[in-house]
Order: sequence, then C-alpha cells, then structure tokens
Amino acid sequence: MHHGPWNTPKAVNYSNVKIEFYYVHFSLCFHFINDDWPGYSLDLFNYPTHYSGDLDCVIIPHGVIMDRTERLARNIMDDLGDHDIVVLCVLKGGYQFCADLVERIKALSRNSNHTIPMRVHFIRLRSYLVSPPSRPLSAGIVGTGKTMETLLQHVKAFKPKMIKVAGLLVKRVQHSLASVPDYVGFEIPNRFVVGYALDYNEYFRDLNHICIISESGKKKYKV
Ligand code: HPA
Ligand code: MG
Repeated sequence: MHHGPWNTPKAVNYSNVKIEFYYVHFSLCFHFINDDWPGYSLDLFNYPTHYSGDLDCVIIPHGVIMDRTERLARNIMDDLGDHDIVVLCVLKGGYQFCADLVERIKALSRNSNHTIPMRVHFIRLRSYLVSPPSRPLSAGIVGTGKTMETLLQHVKAFKPKMIKVAGLLVKRVQHSLASVPDYVGFEIPNRFVVGYALDYNEYFRDLNHICIISESGKKKYKV
C-alpha cells in the first residue's frame, strides 16, 4: 500500500481524471520506497572510508540501481523501435545514471539485430532557466518536476520526433507535480539523499550507493 500525501487528491492539483492517471501510473510503474523504510545498515556494504560517520544508511544499494537501470534500458528500447537516439544528459547529478543507462542501451542494441545510432549531449541547468521562485536544481532527482518541464520546453523547440524523459529518482514532495518522467527508477521519500553522482556541496558523488546523509555529515560538509 502507498501512504503519505502523494496519493491524497488534495496534494495533487489536477482534474479527477489526472489524479486517477497518476495514481495508476505510480502504483504500476514505480519501484516504491516507503517513508518508513529504514534502509540497509552501512555495515552490510563497502563504501569509501572517508565517509564513515557521514551517513545514516543505504537506501538503494548500487547493485539494485544497476539492475533497475538495465530494466529501464529494455523498456526504452522496446518503446523506441528503430528511431535514432539523441541522449541529453543533465549534469552534474545525472551523469552516472546517464552513463550506466547508455551502457545498458548499447549492450541491448549490440545483442539485438537492429542496432540503434546514439548521440550523447550534455547540459548543465542554471537557475535562470527556471522561472521564480528559484530553487536549487538537482539533475538526478525529480522533485516538483518544474525544472524538467522548463527543460522540455527548450527541447521541444528543436522539434524532435519523440521526447522521453528518464529519471532515476522521483521524490514524494508535498507540492503538485508539474511533470513526471516517462521512465522512473525509484520513487523515494522526501529526504535528502547522496551518492551515485548526487552530492551535498559537491561531496558524496564518489559514493556508489544511494544513501541518507547523517546530521554529523551535514555539519562536516556545510559551506
Ligand atoms: N540529494 C542531492 N541533491 C538534491 C536533493 C537530494 O536529495 N534534492 C535536491 N537536490
Ligand atoms: Mg547538487
């Protein structure tokens, strides 16, 4: 069962039809990580010793991220047919997910009898792209979807045949959603996560697992 504000209609300012749509979409397509999921103990996994004491728990181990990414790659391949792919990687937080997803798509493409030409571009979003109120941007995570919606407007100007968005994480934020990715790895609680290229003041990008930062970690890397 899903809990929390995410699925209560008052948190979603859409027509009834759309509320239903999102409800079904999330329950069928997302790997849902519950608000009370305590995570895995750090003692169960390897992680860089320079981060000992800086983390509370592992919420998504690296291997699970990789397995989920492999499945997303298959879903993407199934949907794309024979179209060329132009990948737009949103830096910095999205680089690891993008790199691994592209690798999986390449592997699937190699092993099938239709190989798909792929070009890869990179973009870094600055807050002036997003209309006020300006918020910190995180490329790896979709929160309200406003950043994603703004970027999509820019991409549409190039008139591509098809636009699909893949996001590794969608956070259950209190606000209504402006946009939801077509492919989502995990839906996670509204907590600050680090690792797998997601940073706290540029630290923790070198951590493979997605983890919850500890209070002392926050103090240590505060700017
Ligand atoms: N982690 C890293 N960067 C972020 C997050 C997060 O949970 N939310 C917004 N930017
Ligand atoms: Mg950041």
